[in-house]
Amino acid sequence: MNIALALYQLESELERELIFRNISFEKHDRLYFFETNYCPLFAQVTWINCQTITISSINDGMKKLKALGRNWALFSIGHHRRAQLIQEGLPKINHDPITFLAQHPQHPMGGWTLLNEQTIICSTETTSRYPLGKIEFIENKEVPPSRAYLKLWEFFTVHCTPPEPGTTVIDMGSSPGGWSWVLSQMKLNVISVDKAPLEDRIASIPNITFLQESAFALNPHTMKPVRWFFSDIICYPERLLAFVTKWMHESSVEHFVCTIKFQGEADFTVIDQFLKIPNSKIVHMYHNKHELMWWCRK
Ligand SMILES: C[S@@+](CC[C@H](N)C(=O)[O-])C[C@H]1O[C@@H](n2cnc3c(N)ncnc32)[C@H](O)[C@@H]1O
Repeated sequence: MNIALALYQLESELERELIFRNISFEKHDRLYFFETNYCPLFAQVTWINCQTITISSINDGMKKLKALGRNWALFSIGHHRRAQLIQEGLPKINHDPITFLAQHPQHPMGGWTLLNEQTIICSTETTSRYPLGKIEFIENKEVPPSRAYLKLWEFFTVHCTPPEPGTTVIDMGSSPGGWSWVLSQMKLNVISVDKAPLEDRIASIPNITFLQESAFALNPHTMKPVRWFFSDIICYPERLLAFVTKWMHESSVEHFVCTIKFQGEADFTVIDQFLKIPNSKIVHMYHNKHELMWWCRK
């Protein structure tokens, strides 16, 4: 059995995803239990191959969890006091905010819940090394003009090795400049494109070249060659798909990193079209809202 923790206020998307995949589930608070070995996109974390443990006391619960692994994050769905007391008897886990490009936690992070007084459901195998998939950064509240920069921080800290300094990259839909700022800090040569202007303090960064025009109108053939393509453009997923397909065929881009944004409900048919692109991955990162992160190495 797997258990997925739904993202706060995106429970309906997880339900729609499971229904779309023909997976029947049982719901306990924000935890969705199902018998397939599937890890949903719209989950904050998924606990894989969960075990059911019978416990006779709080101490027995601590002892049995400790015997299975070191790190445990609780998602409490009932019997909260008892669950909390068990958690307090387990080794402390680190909830401190991290820095950009901080080292990955070395040890796996288990997940558990107390189903009733005598029953723990737990997994030592989860989709995140951070407690319940929560990744908090020590934020920079001075320079970045929007909180969107946290998405790229999370992406490069958790999911992908950054480009070499000096690489030329393009940032589509870049205003007010959070992503361009992150990329410029990584010592990349950034071509930044938006119909709206960048914040002045971002536009004046020397390794950012700003083009104020529609990203969809750019001709890859007449552009300086770029190796990484970033897009945080607000547009329909179908339009983004056509846009990246064009750049895949007509440019020297090797890596694509894009947010797929949904205005209404998520469209799983178009999500599957993105997933069909070879070497593609999609996740819902902790800092994504009603959108998914798609990336691909050509
Ligand atoms: C979510 S914001 C981007 C935030 C940005 N990544 C940051 O870190 O500050 C989406 C942007 O897409 C831009 N956009 C929408 N349609 C566009 C188009 N056709 N060409 C270029 N940019 C577009 C909007 O102007 C808006 O600035």
